[in-house]
Amino acid sequence: MAKTKVPTQGIENPRPSPLNRKSGIPLYHQIQQRLLDQIESGELKPGMPMPSIERIAQRMGVSPMTVRQAVRALCELGVIYSRQGKGTFISGIKLERDFRQVLSFTEESVARGARPSSKVLSFEMQAPSPAVKAALRLGNRESVYCLRRVRYGDSVPMGIECSSLPVRLCPGLLESLNPTSSLYAELAEQYGIQLMVTDEVIEVGKANAEEARLLEIAPRSPVFLFTRISYLENGVPAEYVNSIYPGSRYKVVNRLMRMNRKLVSSL
Ligand code: GLP
Repeated sequence: MAKTKVPTQGIENPRPSPLNRKSGIPLYHQIQQRLLDQIESGELKPGMPMPSIERIAQRMGVSPMTVRQAVRALCELGVIYSRQGKGTFISGIKLERDFRQVLSFTEESVARGARPSSKVLSFEMQAPSPAVKAALRLGNRESVYCLRRVRYGDSVPMGIECSSLPVRLCPGLLESLNPTSSLYAELAEQYGIQLMVTDEVIEVGKANAEEARLLEIAPRSPVFLFTRISYLENGVPAEYVNSIYPGSRYKVVNRLMRMNRKLVSSL
């Protein structure tokens, strides 16, 4: 019987490039991304066993617990699976890049091959609306920065986004942020803020006259209304966003999975 060969490339490479410990991106997330890259590039092929947790930990200079966190996250995404007593294997299920991942508009555009740009409609500090205050769990005297932008992909208006961020988490943002650049990239670079989890509610509506003009669509055209609350790794809400996207330029794709909790928790 042919023996299964444990992969020797990528993370198994004799000299994997070191993880970036200053980026603010959690180490398990960096390991997860590396494994994903290897799966996408075909270095790790469907059916192949994953290198062992201990082996990856040793190669990357992190604790087995950190690697286990990355492996568990990949299991939850369905790209790898574990079999009790046999190990963990590459599943062959393709990860839908745009979903189940917190992506910025800039990242999504680049992934689609479009050039992102923005027009700033307003950027100011203000008292939060009751909805923003509740979502961001703000104290009575807390203010938020509000950034309202039209987002373009290759000069086509793709949406209007209105982001509110607690001043407490990013003091001085009005002065330090270039509002036409990527908000997520600047939050990470300047404040070490990584938005790791988001809750999103999607509704449909009709564009009002102003929205239609900005989005270059007919008034009352169908639009998606997204409400996003993004959280830091420790569960603190850091961003509340209302977005409007033309129905004619977007589709919503979901992957739903039936979780095998027993297998995941056996990792
Ligand atoms: C996506 C999200 C928005 C978020 C934005 C940040 O479009 N739906 O909620 O505010 O990304 O994008 P960027 O970092 O490009 O400014």
